[in-house]
Amino acid sequence: MYRICEGGRNMQQPRTVILAAGEGTRMKSSLPKVMHSLCGRPILWHVLQAAEAVASDPVLVVGRGSDQIKDYFGAGLTYVTQEQRLGTGHALQQALPHLPETGELLVLCGDTPLFEAETMEKIVSFHRSSNAAATVVTARLEDPAGYGRIVRCEAGKVEGIVEESHASEQQKAIKEINTGSYCFDLAALHALLPSLPKNQVKGEYYLTDILPMLLEEGRAVEAFLLDDSQQAMGVNDRVQLAQAAALLRQRINEQLMRAGVTMMDPVTTYIDVEVEAGPDTVIYPQTILEGQTRVGSNCIVGPGVHLIDSELGNEVVCRQSVVLESTIGDQALVGPYSYLRPGTVIETGAKIGDFVEIKNSTVGRGSKVPHLSYVGDATLESDVNMGAGSIVVNYDGKKKHRTHIGQGAFIGCNANLVAPVNIGRDAFIAAGSTITRDVPPGALALSRPEQEQKEGVGRRFLGKKEKS
Ligand code: UD1
Ligand code: CA
Repeated sequence: MYRICEGGRNMQQPRTVILAAGEGTRMKSSLPKVMHSLCGRPILWHVLQAAEAVASDPVLVVGRGSDQIKDYFGAGLTYVTQEQRLGTGHALQQALPHLPETGELLVLCGDTPLFEAETMEKIVSFHRSSNAAATVVTARLEDPAGYGRIVRCEAGKVEGIVEESHASEQQKAIKEINTGSYCFDLAALHALLPSLPKNQVKGEYYLTDILPMLLEEGRAVEAFLLDDSQQAMGVNDRVQLAQAAALLRQRINEQLMRAGVTMMDPVTTYIDVEVEAGPDTVIYPQTILEGQTRVGSNCIVGPGVHLIDSELGNEVVCRQSVVLESTIGDQALVGPYSYLRPGTVIETGAKIGDFVEIKNSTVGRGSKVPHLSYVGDATLESDVNMGAGSIVVNYDGKKKHRTHIGQGAFIGCNANLVAPVNIGRDAFIAAGSTITRDVPPGALALSRPEQEQKEGVGRRFLGKKEKS
């Protein structure tokens, strides 16, 4: 694959290897670490997203839980299994046979999800312009504990990386750390990586040991220092997972606010990475927008709204409601306290009110289901009115059946429509009726016992005397 670079030259895109075979023991999870969700997508997905901006055909080095990773990401990637976890150098050695002889290679860690695509571009163009055989991506941290430190000579050139466990007190004071990401010249890697020595203390192959080998060959090694060290943040346990999520969430919210969305309280607004929202939409606190959700412009969403994989048109008002895999048309009103389950379509200007549950149903233009109803497996044409407490009885204990309600029909309060049943256009169902047969267009259907009256019995039940 080729792309045009800034200089106008045709240049081959770099390749990427993502190291993701680590055990992830500190997550204490049956799920591989890189599959834990961060704003709606696995940690590894975020790494791939950023890498794809600059590199092609990623190679993933996987270990424990590789089946779950392959199932999710599918056949479009090259997977290499590292059977034994013998260190970062060993992991990259496994990928080497799958990479071209020449060109550039971006090496990333599968557990570092906050890199931005723009940063990747800067790293690659820095590496290109420096003509180095290796560029290590570094960050300056107030607390560098746990990371490999960048050792530079007096003139400032990178001499190598020393792991914390091997560092002297003086080296431990170095605040510039190895983020674990690199750019390499592939020809140099092919020449030297196979003979990487095993670290005698840990018995592992350290990828960082390639740097002195390159220097010895007279090749240049450079460092790319990140301005924003947060991007290098790795996720090793669930505390860091929550910290990374908070940072990413802030990024997502700021992007939406800059694009014209008002958030009353961004701190309590939880939006997944692929969610879209249009300008002049106002999001109230305690709102969660998940998955492939799209909200139009000029909407009011929240407080307390949870949307999953749902689509809202423009000028929708949705308050205190849960909406799953549903579509809500322009100018519709939903809530407070509605529950829309998968397969629900609310058309333009329809109104779904308080304590209403709707499942796998279409509510036509301008139709109203304002209070205390259940509508399941039904089609309501336009301008239907469902009275308070009216219920679609869709389940007979064995099977679900469909109900059809024609345009302009009026369903009285507390009516039961026993499916399968068709209510004709402009039909009128009297309050409290239980409807078991189709109702023709324009008809009145009334099915309830006649009212009995017993003089004085009410007062007797209440134990009260008649006032004279
Ligand atoms: C490594 C670097 C250290 C750097 C740190 C940044 C080495 C020797 N040290 O240390 O300088 O500051 O990353 O986080 O490289 N992995 C495999 N197979 C393995 C071992 C690791 O795929 O056998 C993967 C892990 O899944 C992870 C990455 O490589 O994505 C880094 O491994 P990790 O064990 O976290 O390395 P550190 O010891 O933290
Ligand atoms: Ca690590």
